[in-house]
Amino acid sequence: MASTYPPLAKGAHVDSMDKYKSMYERSMKDPEGFWGDFAADFHWNKKWDTGDDFHKYNFDLDKGGIHVSWFNGAETNVSYNCLDRHVKAGDGDRVCFFWEGNDEGVESVTTYKQLLDQVCQIANFMKSQGVGKGDEVTIYMPMIPELPATMLACARLGVVFSVVFAGFSAESLAGRISDSSPKMVVTCSAVKRGAKHIELKKIVDEALAILDGEEQVHVPRVLVYDHKASGVAREAIHASLVEGRDVWWQDVIGDQPTECEVEWVGAEDPLFKLYTSGSTGKPKGVVHTTAGYMLGSAATFKYVFDYKPEDVYWCTADCGWITGHSYVTFGPLLMGAKQVLFEGVPTYPTAGRCWEAVDKYNVTIFYTAPTAIRTLMACGDEHVTKHKRTSLRILGTVGEPINPEAWRWYHEVVGNSKAAIVDTWWQTETGAHMITPLPGATPVKPGSATLPFFGVEPALLDDKGNEVEGVGQGYLVIKRPWPSMMRTVANDHHRFEQTYFSGYKGYFFTGDAARRDEDGYFWILGRVDDVINVSGHRIGTAEVESALVGHHVCAEAAVVPVDHPIKGQAIYAFVTLMNGFEYPPEESVRKELVAQVRKAIGPIATPDVIHWAPGLPKTRSGKIMRRVLRKIASNEEDQLGDISTLADPGVVQVLIGLRGK
Ligand code: PRX
Repeated sequence: MASTYPPLAKGAHVDSMDKYKSMYERSMKDPEGFWGDFAADFHWNKKWDTGDDFHKYNFDLDKGGIHVSWFNGAETNVSYNCLDRHVKAGDGDRVCFFWEGNDEGVESVTTYKQLLDQVCQIANFMKSQGVGKGDEVTIYMPMIPELPATMLACARLGVVFSVVFAGFSAESLAGRISDSSPKMVVTCSAVKRGAKHIELKKIVDEALAILDGEEQVHVPRVLVYDHKASGVAREAIHASLVEGRDVWWQDVIGDQPTECEVEWVGAEDPLFKLYTSGSTGKPKGVVHTTAGYMLGSAATFKYVFDYKPEDVYWCTADCGWITGHSYVTFGPLLMGAKQVLFEGVPTYPTAGRCWEAVDKYNVTIFYTAPTAIRTLMACGDEHVTKHKRTSLRILGTVGEPINPEAWRWYHEVVGNSKAAIVDTWWQTETGAHMITPLPGATPVKPGSATLPFFGVEPALLDDKGNEVEGVGQGYLVIKRPWPSMMRTVANDHHRFEQTYFSGYKGYFFTGDAARRDEDGYFWILGRVDDVINVSGHRIGTAEVESALVGHHVCAEAAVVPVDHPIKGQAIYAFVTLMNGFEYPPEESVRKELVAQVRKAIGPIATPDVIHWAPGLPKTRSGKIMRRVLRKIASNEEDQLGDISTLADPGVVQVLIGLRGK
């Protein structure tokens, strides 16, 4: 039995298990009352319909199409609730961002009023370019205040934005632009991340050049922020500006009026889409809508981080991922929080960077990923202990299962055994925390995400689709809708229904497996589909395989996850070369294949291992037996199991012989 740590947040919003249980019960029995009460703190241009009209859904494909709606009939605006609401309440001078640039000493402070002014200016420029409600904008920017400001400017106008992480390659960006047909792309001259300079504008140029021949993509306007701290001068980029297409941010935004009326939008109007990898095909655009997402991100921010106005909050995630949407841009700003916005990486210039900044801003709530915790842990305690960190009271983790050793280090060394740990399980699709402790209520066990958040009803299913009762493990599904769940896949509702609702009728399938212990606590076991979780980022095996076979030397590829001490999982690729190659081929072939993946997807998808495979283990019907490949990749060939169904069992020995070659 795992050791249990008592809840540590004193005087919390939810300060006992009894309170958690009664709130949870209410959220289940009376969703309208529960969410309606929470919604009362927000501004609504029009109130929602009550009774049966408040919330509608169908989760069962046998009973028609999948649909979910909350707060039907209501009108609001997320940008208004993040900004105007606080300024009108007299909190305009409150700090929203302490921006900490990549290089130490590069910093700025923004207040809510300043952010509102800037958001209005950006929105006014967008309007002047004919960008309005229902249009789309793609954002490809680093972690500077202008990134959340652009997201909020879009939300203000009812423009659907899609942030593409500024570490994705030109080809990936092109794919996402092509799927969206944005009227505008907002980017930045360059960024310095750690010691590396990345010219983002150049990547946008390359992406648009790839799309040049595509008829359906009209040329978007490109707004380019001149990021002086990147070390790349405006003059160096200026010549690349395309007349009539590209314009410098600094030339057009500052002169815009600082007032811009909000566009009231319907509760179910789309707010943004965010592309994420699935087990098949291209990344899908996960669509989130307005009211439900707003309340889900705000409620979880308030309760899971036990947020209070005196807190200083810091989430290290990039706005290119869902964590940066819900817990940098929306949740914190909706609640009027003061937060650190960080452009850099936790190990630059030293492994003490985060703790130095924690002391500098007196950070009370810190939220990061297990991979960052393990990286810092490997750098040695001295980088942590030389800083005070006495302000820290809540430490959050997200993105992948946290191993108990890293959990204890986070708790004991970083948090001085005084800060509460919240291990938050959720997904791009869920929009907000789903299974998580509440820091004043839930006794925690290292490695368990513990219990469901309000309104969330998880279940475990066995192979036959029957619910596993009590202690046991199975596929993690959700039995009923919650406000912040995704509503569709952009341009492909059928894919939404097939991906999440066709496997188990009546349930939303998460793609994860989990175990439930004797206390009803959930332990997430990881993905059961062909998705690899590399440093908390989802990479579809199909995407990496398609990148590899895109190279002329590669005849076939099969990609599997392998455990990695820092990244959690790493990408392990088996590659069959075209006829005529000998195994192992020259080293340059490996380098070219790795470069190919980086070009097609981005550095995050870099395979750690390319394992040469003159043949792949296939069944007689030609299906690759990934189970066998996983065992070979993990050095567990003594546990291969039954391989008699392979068309040619001999390939296994050949593969084992080529390990490390
Ligand atoms: O496998 C789960 C893992 O990350 C997946 C979702 O990835 P993404 O949509 O990119 O969102 C990441 C940030 C929310 C899940 O299916 N995951 C996320 N949080 C946890 C986790 N696995 C274990 N424990 C967690 N706390």
